[in-house]
Amino acid sequence: MSIEKIAVLGGGQMGAGIAEAAASRGISVALIKATPGPSDKAKAGIEKGLGRLVEKGKLSADDAGAIVSRITFTDDLNAAADADLFVESIVEDIAIKKQKFAEADKIVKAGGILASNTSTLCIGDMQAATERSDRFIGLHFFNPATMMKLVEVIPTDSTDASVVADAVAFVETIGKTPVLVKDRTGFIVNRLLTPYMCDAIRCLEDGLADIAGIDTAMQLGANHPMGPLSLADYIGLDIVNAMSENLFEAFGKDYMAPPALLKKLVAAGTLGRKTKLGFYDYSERPPVPNKELG
Ligand code: 3HC
Repeated sequence: MSIEKIAVLGGGQMGAGIAEAAASRGISVALIKATPGPSDKAKAGIEKGLGRLVEKGKLSADDAGAIVSRITFTDDLNAAADADLFVESIVEDIAIKKQKFAEADKIVKAGGILASNTSTLCIGDMQAATERSDRFIGLHFFNPATMMKLVEVIPTDSTDASVVADAVAFVETIGKTPVLVKDRTGFIVNRLLTPYMCDAIRCLEDGLADIAGIDTAMQLGANHPMGPLSLADYIGLDIVNAMSENLFEAFGKDYMAPPALLKKLVAAGTLGRKTKLGFYDYSERPPVPNKELG
């Protein structure tokens, strides 16, 4: 089955990014806000990002307009009815995800594929909330979804081979590279990346170096585009904390557990870029290391 129309549930950073990435390659998208209310923020974010590309001369204004016009912004789950593929990208709470999948299962047409963009939760658990386990798969995108080339494709033992083939073809159609992974907590990237970010936080706790030092070392010494503390802020410290807790729960390895400083920042509502304060202070331009953290 060729995937021509998708529905994305969740109008946050990831959901909007997935919607834009697909619409940029000619796919029709219903971007469905998971909580009731206007979708202005998601639409404005996409328009702003595309506007920057137009300013840089990388995209024509007409093409930017065409991309936005391929996306229907709504908070009505019924907009997913005629989708070939439904991608859930909402809060990392298994109970809420299961409930939304049970609802979507009744709405999305027979033959439609259901997919989750979860970071670390088990695809099999969500699949069990639906009556189409053979048409259920994980599709894990990376932030920023418009630019990052990887999508982890996670079939379970019940996923039909044709669904895996259709999902892989879709990922390639939108210009990304699929990697098949088993349904194990964190898949590949987050299983490796989360302990790395947590260890960087432990280095800071130990006073090994300061924030800028740790980030500069990994940028220049390992050729990473961002240092680990900057990346944690970019992903969101609440998300990094949740991924770390999920990994620790699944594998019981101490190095996967969230460090005390991460838990403290999350409890204080210091969540990184989205709250303008994390390991860096984003109220300054360019951002400066958070003075409270030394
Ligand atoms: N669509 C297409 N291209 C776009 C775009 C859009 N909406 N917005 C920007 N771009 C282009 C820009 O034009 C630019 O291209 P150019 O260099 O040819 O001019 C390029 O993308 C980069 O944009 P910027 O100059 O704004 O930014 P940087 O060069 O500083 O790169 C970054 C930013 C891509 C975020 C880079 O720092 C990076 O790769 N960081 C690491 C990100 C990462 O590791 N993500 C994974 C996190 S883990 C995860 O997501 C898993 C989840 O489960 C939590």
